[in-house]
Amino acid sequence: MRHFTSVNDIPDLKKALETAFDVKSNPSAYAHLGKGKTMVLIFFNSSLRTRLSTQKAAMNLGMNTMVLNINEDSWQLETELGVVMDGNKPEHLREAVPVIGAYCDIIGVRSFARFESREDDYGEKILSQFTDYAGVPIVSMEAAIRHPLQSFADLMTIEELKTREKPRVVLTWAPHPRALPQAVPNSFLEWMRKAGYDLVVTHPEGYELAPQFMEGLTVEYDQDKAFEGADFIYAKNWASYTHYGQILSHDRSWTVDSRKMERTDNARFMHCLPVRRNMIVTDEVIDSPASVVIREAANREWAAMAVLKMILEDNQ
Ligand code: CP
Repeated sequence: MRHFTSVNDIPDLKKALETAFDVKSNPSAYAHLGKGKTMVLIFFNSSLRTRLSTQKAAMNLGMNTMVLNINEDSWQLETELGVVMDGNKPEHLREAVPVIGAYCDIIGVRSFARFESREDDYGEKILSQFTDYAGVPIVSMEAAIRHPLQSFADLMTIEELKTREKPRVVLTWAPHPRALPQAVPNSFLEWMRKAGYDLVVTHPEGYELAPQFMEGLTVEYDQDKAFEGADFIYAKNWASYTHYGQILSHDRSWTVDSRKMERTDNARFMHCLPVRRNMIVTDEVIDSPASVVIREAANREWAAMAVLKMILEDNQ
């Protein structure tokens, strides 16, 4: 594997999962692998879990790590090609990316959807400049339309807790005061489909995800019905894809609560975090034994470690 930007970069998902569970059981067994190598973690956007888990994963593998918060620690970067740079951004990504690549062996990048243009976001305008010009492997730490490290940890969590071969996994939209990207739900569907699970998607009308991520799936617009018989409830807010970046509903009847969880087959509650309590999910549900959000977050370290291990082994 050269870059890690989606599940499609993983040659064998079953093997990748085995690697993740292996590093989880033996966190210090591969400390020699990244010795003398450096990972730079670039953040265009805020993070708690991704920053700490990816940095920890790199350190577990013996790598040196450097973190750069773009626009805070560094020069402000221009990302548009062909512009006259007479504004407040003194450096272009086109130079910054190969310069960063010259200092390290792997780059992790976080750059969210900007909601200025659906075409730009769905073309991964920033991430693609990293894969094109860095000269070293790139790990997506959440880009405009996918969050593969999160989905890998989600898959690990379901594999650890499932009670049947093909669990019923429900992705449900839930309300949020701000417009959020579609990266987590898009990516989640891609990974869950590849795992062969029984997938259900539920959301209010107008929140249909991009067709490329909904292939073979139909939406159940009745959330109560969608929850019936579920083994896992994965809650997430996202802004509209059709009316790109807009909030179409604040309907709090979509908040995941105990009454809805009772319709499931003793489902586990999942969320990538950070989560808005009593908007996305009630305190009662997230504080209940059904909630596995902390396990999911903890698995981020092992998912990241598996990805970095595979990249280090394939790019000696
Ligand atoms: N789930 C997740 O990516 O968390 P952070 O935004 O805190 O990294």
